[in-house]
Amino acid sequence: IKTVKDVDVTSKKVLVRVDFNVPMGENGDIRDDTRIRVCLPTIRHLVDKRARVILCSHLDRPKGKIVESLRLAPVARRLSELLGKPVESLRECTGPAVEKAVSAMRDGDIVLLENLRFYPGEEKNDPGFARALARLADIYVNDAFSASHRAHASVVGITDYLPSVAGFLMEKELNILGKLLENPAKPFAAVIGGAKVSDKLEVLDNIVTRVSMFLLGGGMAATFLKSEGYRTGKSLVEDDKLQYVRDLSEKARSLDVGLFLPIDVVISETLDGSTPARTVAVSDIPDGWAIADIGPQTISNYIRELKKCKTVFWNGPMGVFEVPEFSKGTREIATAISNLDAVTVVGGGSTTEAVNSLGLADKITHISTGGGATLEFLSGKPLPGVTALAEASGRILARTG
Ligand code: 3PG
Repeated sequence: IKTVKDVDVTSKKVLVRVDFNVPMGENGDIRDDTRIRVCLPTIRHLVDKRARVILCSHLDRPKGKIVESLRLAPVARRLSELLGKPVESLRECTGPAVEKAVSAMRDGDIVLLENLRFYPGEEKNDPGFARALARLADIYVNDAFSASHRAHASVVGITDYLPSVAGFLMEKELNILGKLLENPAKPFAAVIGGAKVSDKLEVLDNIVTRVSMFLLGGGMAATFLKSEGYRTGKSLVEDDKLQYVRDLSEKARSLDVGLFLPIDVVISETLDGSTPARTVAVSDIPDGWAIADIGPQTISNYIRELKKCKTVFWNGPMGVFEVPEFSKGTREIATAISNLDAVTVVGGGSTTEAVNSLGLADKITHISTGGGATLEFLSGKPLPGVTALAEASGRILARTG
C-alpha cells in the first residue's frame, strides 16, 4: 500500500479519514485522547509538507441524525492543543459552507469536518455522499484502521473518486497486526469482553481456528453463560445468538480450543454504581440483577491461563470498568497481561482507555486503535476499507509506473 510519503501533497487539499471516536464524559470532555494522539504523525507530516489538511471522522453512532452532544468541536479543540496550531471545526461535512471554508484554506491549514455519521449516506456507503466528500479534495488518506471494517462512504466509496493512500497509523497497524496474523507464537489467547457483543460474535467464528484459548468477560460472557443454561438476570444478552454461540462452543471443543467463561461474577441491580454490588457464583444470579464484572475466582483462573501464553490479544473490558466497584476484573487482567513475557496486543477504545488509565501502556507490545476492526483483521477477514485502499493505491502505482 502506498502511503502519504509516496505522493506530492504540497498545496494539495488532502482529505484524511481519521478515527476520532473518543470516549466522551458526561459534560462533553474527552476522557481519553489516544485516538487523536496516534494520528498526529500523519497530520504533522502533511502540515510540514504544506498540504491543506481536511480531517474527517465519525463519533459514536448518531445513526444519520444530528445529535448536538456528538459534534466534533471538542475534538478539534483538543487536536489544536496537541498540535499547538489552530484547527477550524466545521459544522457540516459537505455543501456550500464547507466548500467555501475549504477554498479559503492556505497551505498548512487544518479543518475538521463535522461528525460523518450525521449523514445517512455515510453508513450506506452512498456514492452521492462519497462524491460530495471527494469534491472537497485532491487526495484521500485513510488513517482510520479502526474504522476500516466498516464499508462506509468515507472509508470505501471515496476511494473510487480520489487518488488514495494510507496514513502512518494505518501502515503501522497493518505491519504489526499482519505479523500477528501470519505467525503468532503459541499458546495464543484471545481475551474478549466489552459491550459490542453481536459485532464480535461473528468474527469469533473465524478467530477460533487461530487461537489456543478464549477468555471471556464483559457483555460477551453473559450470552455464553445463558447459552449454557445459566440464568443471567437482566444482564445484556443477545438472545437471537444463543444457538450460534452453542455452535461456536462446539467448534472450539472440536478444535481443542479452550473456552473459559466466568465461574463467579460481580452483580448489581443497576450498572451505574448506585445500587449495592455482590459477588456470586454464575449459578446464583437472581432475577433483576445484572453482571457488572468478573469475580475473583474467575480473575485467578484467567491469570493462570494467561501465564501459559506466548501471544495474547485483548479486546473489551471485563466489566463496567468506568464504575470503580466494577473495575477490578479489567484492572487485574490488564496488569497480568502487562506483566507477561509474551507478545501482547491490546485493541479497542475502552480497552485502551483502561490500559492508559492504569499507566500500563508502555508494558504492552502494541496498542491497536482498532476494536472490532482489529478483531476482524485477526480473524483473517479482509477489511473493506483496507481492500479498497489497496486497490486504489495500486491504481496510483499503475499511473505513476
Ligand atoms: C470503534 O470504536 O471500534 C470504531 O470507531 C468503529 O466504531 P463503530 O463500531 O461504531 O463502527
